[in-house]
Amino acid sequence: MKQKTIFTCQNCGYKAPKWLGRCPDCGMWNSLVEEVLESGNKARSSERHPQDMPQRMDTIALDEQIRYKTGFSEFDRTLGGGVVPGSLVLIGGDPGIGKSTLILQVVQRLAQGGYRTLYISGEESAQQIKLRAQRLSADSPEIYLLSGTCLEDMIDRFEDLAPRIIVIDSIQTIYSETLSSAPGSISQVREVTGKLMNLAKRSGRALFIIGHVTKEGAIAGPKVLEHLVDTVLYFEGDGSHSYRILRSVKNRFGPTNEIGAFEMTDKGLEEVLNPSEIFLEDRARDVSGSVVISCMEGTRPLLVELQALVCSSSLAVPRRTTIGVDPNRVSLLAAVLTKRGGINLSNNDIFINVAGGIRIDEPAIDLGIVATVASSFLNKPIRRNTVVFGEVGLSGEVRGVSQTEARIKEAVKMGFSRAIVSKKNIKSMKTKLDIELISISSVQELLEVLFS
Ligand code: TYD
Ligand code: MG
Repeated sequence: MKQKTIFTCQNCGYKAPKWLGRCPDCGMWNSLVEEVLESGNKARSSERHPQDMPQRMDTIALDEQIRYKTGFSEFDRTLGGGVVPGSLVLIGGDPGIGKSTLILQVVQRLAQGGYRTLYISGEESAQQIKLRAQRLSADSPEIYLLSGTCLEDMIDRFEDLAPRIIVIDSIQTIYSETLSSAPGSISQVREVTGKLMNLAKRSGRALFIIGHVTKEGAIAGPKVLEHLVDTVLYFEGDGSHSYRILRSVKNRFGPTNEIGAFEMTDKGLEEVLNPSEIFLEDRARDVSGSVVISCMEGTRPLLVELQALVCSSSLAVPRRTTIGVDPNRVSLLAAVLTKRGGINLSNNDIFINVAGGIRIDEPAIDLGIVATVASSFLNKPIRRNTVVFGEVGLSGEVRGVSQTEARIKEAVKMGFSRAIVSKKNIKSMKTKLDIELISISSVQELLEVLFS
């Protein structure tokens, strides 16, 4: 059935019966998106659920078992303790990063736990999926496969099966027949996601949708869906490393910024239970421009090596190139070092790399950037047993960060014997740990402790 649709400008709300490249009202380019035209009282007349009426807080019943455990502990922890029935989870990531592999392994574990699951693929045929599943030993009979691209058609087909878990791989290949736009367009991914959200809430099934993150272009990526779904997980990693990080950036049922670590092997993804170990594995000995920082990823402390290379620049505007950290942060800290630490970096290129291909977005990384850049510039190595963390302000002051104890405990566990942190953090320590704690309050003090 074809419903009436209208094109609405996402910037100003202007409505047009046909698609236009530019909104005649506000002048924005490419802002018109197709939407279904709902007739005024359709929503009202549809049947009512008891949940639709106002309910007293104390009369609301909670289900006995609130989460399905996958037994993939890294996956469960990223979701905040397991899969919530009736939730819609979006898993985004670059093409080829391993999203289909991950979800197939998750589904296998759920199927083994007795939950019937349905894997809908718009990208691969059932045979292709079966081949991959065999390689991953993920071919439990409780997994049903369905290939297709029309949403309404598929919903009809799986109603009788009553699966508890449904996977849609990928959102960009599925279309709803109510809209005439191409699959993968903003209006389609939004419409399909809206319908799936409805399905999840109505039926209490857990739904996973996979979305490719794409370069700016015609195809809509997971970004436009983030506000629609319950949970957003990103699967990241760089193609040349085998390590992958699953990160929760939004979660209505648990903490955000939680991460799970995996390694891609020839038998699929394996959990990495002690990520600090792998990120420190290949550290070189006694070279300048390397320091270990203790950062928090969600509730878990993680030790990573920060590398810097500072060399004289032949450019008028020297380069600040980074992998894994924000380049603006590096420019800012380079300016702080120049002005407050007496290390003139205005004629130097700076390259920063977080070893192991992970991305860090935490202020506690500041002290590590300052330390590793200074070490490379001065060509003096930092002692191998040292870990640093702290936020650095524009006047060169070192500020405290949260969860000092967890960070330091992780360093002790990994065999570090010296931690350089802010005064405030040291004061907040309650337990005595077997590590030398050096408190500093400024960048100058850091340089004295490290290099004199
Ligand atoms: P895939 O899950 O298809 O990626 P996505 O769904 O995110 O596009 O993973 C593709 C990559 O994973 C491919 O480069 C091959 C690699 N891979 C392995 O290394 N081992 C395996 O067991 C599998 C199934 C895939
Ligand atoms: Mg895939």
